Amino acid sequence: MDVGDQLCEAAKNGDAGKVKALIESGADVSHFDGEGLTPLMHAAKHGHADVVKKLLEAGAPWNALSPSNLSAGDFAMDAGHQEAFDILLNAGIQAELVLGTIARKDNKIGDCNGDYLEDRVSFSEDKLMDAESKAVMMAWEKPLMEAHAKAVCSGGGHILNIGFGMGLVDTAIQQYAPASHTIVEAHPEVYERMIRTGWAEKDNVKIIFGRWQDVLPQLELYDGIFFDTYGEYYEDLREFHQYLPALLKPEGIYSFFNGLCGGNGLGEDDWQC
Ligand SMILES: C[S@@+](CC[C@H](N)C(=O)[O-])C[C@H]1O[C@@H](n2cnc3c(N)ncnc32)[C@H](O)[C@@H]1O
Repeated sequence: MDVGDQLCEAAKNGDAGKVKALIESGADVSHFDGEGLTPLMHAAKHGHADVVKKLLEAGAPWNALSPSNLSAGDFAMDAGHQEAFDILLNAGIQAELVLGTIARKDNKIGDCNGDYLEDRVSFSEDKLMDAESKAVMMAWEKPLMEAHAKAVCSGGGHILNIGFGMGLVDTAIQQYAPASHTIVEAHPEVYERMIRTGWAEKDNVKIIFGRWQDVLPQLELYDGIFFDTYGEYYEDLREFHQYLPALLKPEGIYSFFNGLCGGNGLGEDDWQC
């Protein structure tokens, strides 16, 4: 068995000592075994949180995808391994924040969202993918979206959501029957799908097509606001926060799950909340 496969096996068995020794002897933490899984995916799948942590510290890619397009986070979530999932979630958040900062320093802001919005996206039952097959949104995020919806709808009234994606948060928001439910979406194909699936016909729903940056004058004052875009940087989120006082009522509730830059090579964007 080659060293990479040995690392996968040790990760699968939760053998932290062996994982450590193999890493120290130079085993490749990005290795894909015969099943197309990385050591991190094995550890996540079996809920070995300590091994997940060790592998991440050694530079294992948290966003690598299996042949069926599942990340280590998906494996942990599917198997109900909360601790391993939380560690992966935090690793994703940190990586995105660091890359956003680097990109900002390199003056690359602005390229990112533009590329994504001009490219094709594709929908499958459990994913929305961009043109590079990076996940814009995944079905496993549903419980997180439901929690956001519960928070922003807790005061009732008028709700604004920025970024429709798979409509997970909007579906959850609808369950609270808000007085009005405004959705801003910038991608033409996502927008087209919203129309096709009847979102524009819902009594309390108002869809605004366009980048939130461009449609700000059409926005009003809301009791609850949720923000979750894709292909943007921390700088965009910061900019949105500057407008918040003009969009949110004094007692209103705001929550976000920002998209940062999905075009930065890390793939799945939605590790932030
Ligand atoms: C991660 S998804 C949102 C997922 C959504 N919260 C859900 O529950 O399914 C991000 C969405 O934001 C949209 N988006 C990206 N940039 C945007 C922008 N500047 N303004 C408005 N929407 C944007 C994307 O097209 C995508 O549909």
